[in-house]
Amino acid sequence: MIKLNLKTSIAGKDFEHPIFNASGPKCITREELEEIGVSRSAGIMAKSCTIKPRDGNPSPRHFDFCGGAIGSYGLPNLGYKKYLEIFPQLKSYCKPIIASVSGMSIEENQTIISEFSKVSEIDLIELNISCPNIIGKPQVGYDFDYSKKMIAEIGKVCKKPLGLKLPPYFDFAHFNTMAKIINNSKVSFVTCINSVGNGLYVDFENECTVIKPKKGFGGVGGIIKPFGLANVRKFRELLRDDINIVGVGGIFTGKDVFEYLLCGADAVQIGTAFMQSNTQIFEKLLLEFKQVIQDKEYTRLSQFKNKLKEI
Ligand SMILES: Cc1cc2nc3c(=O)[nH]c(=O)nc-3n(C[C@H](O)[C@H](O)[C@H](O)COP(=O)(O)O)c2cc1C
Repeated sequence: MIKLNLKTSIAGKDFEHPIFNASGPKCITREELEEIGVSRSAGIMAKSCTIKPRDGNPSPRHFDFCGGAIGSYGLPNLGYKKYLEIFPQLKSYCKPIIASVSGMSIEENQTIISEFSKVSEIDLIELNISCPNIIGKPQVGYDFDYSKKMIAEIGKVCKKPLGLKLPPYFDFAHFNTMAKIINNSKVSFVTCINSVGNGLYVDFENECTVIKPKKGFGGVGGIIKPFGLANVRKFRELLRDDINIVGVGGIFTGKDVFEYLLCGADAVQIGTAFMQSNTQIFEKLLLEFKQVIQDKEYTRLSQFKNKLKEI
C-alpha cells in the first residue's frame, strides 16, 4: 500500500487534507460547527456573520433542483459576538478554524475583524465580498473601486491571515482588475466562487417562482463547476504565487476535487453537496479523492496541483 500525503496549507495554516465545508450550509450554530468538527472536514468554516444576529430572508428561500440549488437566505447568523464565544470551544477538534465576515459596511467589517483578530483560536478570516442575497445591497466584489477601498481598510485592522470570498467573474478584464487589487494588498488567500448570483428557477407546472425573496431571484450553487474552475484557473495565473486559492462550486465527487487542484486550487470547500446531505459527505469525498490519486499513481498533491495541460 503506497502512502498518500494529502497535506496542504492556506496562508501558512496546515490542513490534513484539502477538503472542508464552505461558509453557509449547516455552519451557523455551535451544534452544527461541532458536527463539522467531528467529521472528516479538514477545517471548520463558519457561516458569514454580521454585527447583529439576523433571521435572514422570508421562506421558502431554498429550492433543490437536478444538479444544483437556488437560494436566497440573506445571511441568517447569530451575530459576531456569539461567534466570539463559540470559536474557542471548537479548538479541541484540532483543525483550522475559519471565521467568515460579511458586515454591511467597511466600518462593520472593521469592527468584527478587529474583535476576531484578538481570538487566538481563529486561524483564518474570510471576508465575504460576494453575497448576492442581501435585499437592496449590490455585491461588493463587482464594484472594483469600493472593493479596493474595503480591502485596504480591512487590511489595516486585520491581524490574522485574511482571505477574500469572491463572486464569479466572467470577463478577463474583470479578472485582471481584481487580481491587480489583490496583488497590491495584504490578502493571503482567495476563495472562488460564491454562488452565481441572481439566477431564476421556474416551476413549470405551476408557472411560478420557487423561492420567495427578491421575486424568485437567488444564488445558484451546484451546477456551477465550469465557472468555479475557470475562476480558480484564471486567478492562479494572475495572482502572486504566495496567495493561496481555495476552490468552491459544484463539487460532488472526488474527481471534482481533483479537477480543482489541477486548475491550481490549494484546497476546496463543499457547499450545495453538504447542504443536500450531511457531514458524511466529507468522508465520501476524501475516499473518492484518494482513489482518484491512487488510480493516477500520484502520492502527493504537488505532483498534479496547478498542472492542467492545454491542448
Ligand atoms: C445555503 C447556502 C448558504 C450560503 N451562505 C454563504 C455565506 O454565508 N457566506 C459565503 O461566503 N457563501 C455562502 N454560500 C455560498 C457557498 O459558500 C458557495 O460559495 C456556493 O454555494 C458555491 O458552492 P457549491 O456549488 O458547492 O454550493 C452559501 C451557499 C448556500 C447553498
